[in-house]
Amino acid sequence: MNESTEKLESRKLPAKLPMKEYAARRQRLLRQMAPNSIAILPSASLKIRNRDAEYPFRQDSDFYYLTGFPEPEAVLALIPGREHGEAVLFCKERNPEFELWNGRLAGQEGAVEVYGMDDAFPIADIDEILPGLIEGRSKVYYAMGRDEKFDRQVMDWINAIRAKVRSGAQPPGEFAALEHLLHDMRLYKSPAELKVMGEAAEITAQAHIRAMKACRPGMLEYQLEAEINYHFLMNGARASAYNAIVGGGDNACILHYTENDQVLRDGDLVLIDAGCELDHYAADITRTIPVNGKFSPEQRTLYELVLSAQEAAIAATKPGNHWNQPHEAAVRVLCEGLLKLGIIQAPSLEEAIAQELYRPFYMHRTGHWLGMDVHDVGDYKIGGEWRVLEPGMVMTVEPGLYIAANCESVEPRWWGIGIRIEDDVVVTKDGCQVLTASAPKTVADIERIMAER
Ligand code: GLY
Ligand code: MN
Ligand code: MN
Repeated sequence: MNESTEKLESRKLPAKLPMKEYAARRQRLLRQMAPNSIAILPSASLKIRNRDAEYPFRQDSDFYYLTGFPEPEAVLALIPGREHGEAVLFCKERNPEFELWNGRLAGQEGAVEVYGMDDAFPIADIDEILPGLIEGRSKVYYAMGRDEKFDRQVMDWINAIRAKVRSGAQPPGEFAALEHLLHDMRLYKSPAELKVMGEAAEITAQAHIRAMKACRPGMLEYQLEAEINYHFLMNGARASAYNAIVGGGDNACILHYTENDQVLRDGDLVLIDAGCELDHYAADITRTIPVNGKFSPEQRTLYELVLSAQEAAIAATKPGNHWNQPHEAAVRVLCEGLLKLGIIQAPSLEEAIAQELYRPFYMHRTGHWLGMDVHDVGDYKIGGEWRVLEPGMVMTVEPGLYIAANCESVEPRWWGIGIRIEDDVVVTKDGCQVLTASAPKTVADIERIMAER
């Protein structure tokens, strides 16, 4: 057994949220809902890839956040104050024939026993049962417009109640988006969520180290992607949180490059943006490394500029600062550097910033919320003002510089250099903690790790 196999075999199971966390979330949402209301949330659906083959199933984040329930064809109803139980799940009935072909089902018993629901019914009976649960409730919360088929189903249930008004049925008068309540809850991560996210971050950081050690001129971009995916899978992260970007040389200047099928050339940089998903939580790391293990002087100059911008943005990620302050800090450092290098020209730094002269080389924002979705939910502005950062919020910090080949306004020595450095950070009481700190990012650390090859 070699050393790495030994390490893998001694590994514990990957982190997973305890069931009580889901119950506590349901309680918290129920207490925020209007009295005499009902919330209805559908699971994700299986999607066909081609003929009989399906895409790997990924549960809907909102649904999973409140249930931990991993099956398709399920609907959660939350009904505050309902005497026979506030959390009701509709899900598939157990069926030996179905389960023989397609895998185990929880069934209604499992929904109650394992997933802590108060009540459960077969999904096949939803049209008979759910209108009765909605009837008499004055307000319905659900995510309108997200799924056309589900929108129609909800309207059918409401119409079934309206059809009975002359018999005294009371249809709901108000519909409200559930997201306002739910997505605000999802924005603040609990200690248990931070534990899972910390582990997703660590697996991803180690995967990037593996790619750094494997990288050699002449390899294909997808071979680095394979190194990353191997590490994810071997550590229990069965999915990536998004399609990996592995862009050598000029390909790094295409922001959403995912072909990953070109040869990595001696003397180029390669940008790797890849993150795993663990128990439905994402990590999102970008590292940019020299294919041959040594930065050229130009690569190093721009790399250290991006790194300074990232450090400034991380320093600005603290409670009391608003959402845009890390971005503003990064832009200031990048502009200062670009002016000094003569890549942009302006009479002053303030003017360069005001005129957004950096935009041809830095065209995206410095981060996004991170959680169950890689671009996670949560408002960035409140009442038209940037949101103030608070402990428990998790975000990425990911400035970059992209100078594509044949960029005529810039000296050719800078061409074909695309750099992004991305970490995941959680806002703490007095600053922030970098969850992805194990992934090396100084020039010295990257060159040292790559020299170990
Ligand atoms: N990987 C997607 C992003 O960095 O936002
Ligand atoms: Mn990102
Ligand atoms: Mn990313």
